Amino acid sequence: MHSYELSTAQISRYAQQGFLKLDRLSPQQEILKIRKIYDALFASQAMAEDGNKIDLAGAGSDKELLPQMLRLSKYAPELAQTEFRNRALAISRQLLGPNAELMGDHAILKPAHHGAETPWHQDEAYWDPALEYDAITIWMPLQPATLENGCMQFIPGSHAEVHPHHPIGHDPRNHGLEVDHVDPAEAVACPIPAGGATIHHCRVLHYAGPNRTDQPRRAYALTFRKPPQTRETARDFYWLDPV
Ligand code: NI
Repeated sequence: MHSYELSTAQISRYAQQGFLKLDRLSPQQEILKIRKIYDALFASQAMAEDGNKIDLAGAGSDKELLPQMLRLSKYAPELAQTEFRNRALAISRQLLGPNAELMGDHAILKPAHHGAETPWHQDEAYWDPALEYDAITIWMPLQPATLENGCMQFIPGSHAEVHPHHPIGHDPRNHGLEVDHVDPAEAVACPIPAGGATIHHCRVLHYAGPNRTDQPRRAYALTFRKPPQTRETARDFYWLDPV
């Protein structure tokens, strides 16, 4: 018995559209616990010193606009003991197969009032062009995610090939990537309650708006993958080359 089971309808919708939305994944009592750990990590210097806390879009600004933390469970191992983690793993095995494994965890905080948008991108554009991936990210907001604070948005069915990307705002100092072309008219926004989740394939185009509210927008995400194979021909992800 899995700790969480998607329906057949959800699995086929995911295959077609490249994403899913769930109104509840983490149990209610767990969200506050994760939020406490999350805030403590953002406040600490440890991750920044190791290069695991970076601003994706803040080049030239004196404020943090889109701070991201990587490998949170290395610093807070209790995050690996959560029901969220269990259920996310169960989902990844349903969507990717029994050998699905955790690839990493990350968190993006959109500060109140000035948290920046996360521009349209495909996650795989950040990864190794020589490998063949099948991966998903399970993204969970720690307060309701709304259009006003930057909920996830997706282009249904866009999980085909990886498109050309460039650094956010064409500023090579930014770590974040943005796809060169997109038609946002097709976007589907996914507002969800705290502890709900969106699940998206590594090639589906996605975006999250700026945070216009007076509360920070916290989101915690787990990425799972099938063990990747080497591709016959490596792709040219020139946007990853050092400038
Ligand atoms: Ni992404």
